Amino acid sequence: MAEPPASHPIAVLYSAETIAARVDSLARGIAQRELWAPLIVAVLKGSFIFAADLIRALHAHGLKPEIDFIFLASYGGGTSGGPVEILRDVQSDITGRDVVIVDDILDSGRTLLFARERLRSKGARTVLSCVLLDKKARRTEVVAADFTGFECPDRFVVGYGMDLGNHYRELPYIGIIETAG
Ligand code: IMP
Ligand code: MG
Repeated sequence: MAEPPASHPIAVLYSAETIAARVDSLARGIAQRELWAPLIVAVLKGSFIFAADLIRALHAHGLKPEIDFIFLASYGGGTSGGPVEILRDVQSDITGRDVVIVDDILDSGRTLLFARERLRSKGARTVLSCVLLDKKARRTEVVAADFTGFECPDRFVVGYGMDLGNHYRELPYIGIIETAG
């Protein structure tokens, strides 16, 4: 039998309106980099809504991005430094391309570090990164994003594509789960 829908108290951290304004300014910043035929590589699953909004904002700023996806899973969590596994790799030919990795949260940094190395090793000309949230308190790797939407407190957040056990991705805002993390 299916589980009942999850229900946790959630406090709004960034509203839909605040997110939309920030996505537009991120797109403006990316457009200013004069990338040649940029390829957006969205890290599944958490970044799918952010990436969908970002490519439309890039269009509004005059870019014609292509989009591809990489599905990564990291194990061991937090500070234990477990491996990152590729569940689905990019399909595009990356050789000589200007690539922008798009992810939801920069947490330990292992996912972004892995994705960056992977795309460089496939021959990208440039690899930039754009993350929606930066949870600086939990960083274990020396890695920073080129574009960051918002700072994120050291709390568990959901919504706008991000989940808790696959729930809450549909929320139009980013919220803090008040009883977890
Ligand atoms: P890391 O930077 O490799 O540690 O992993 C970042 C990934 O962990 C993100 O892309 C998210 O998928 C996930 N993650 C980290 N913190 C949260 C959170 O607060 N809510 C939902 N997912 C999170
Ligand atoms: Mg993720």
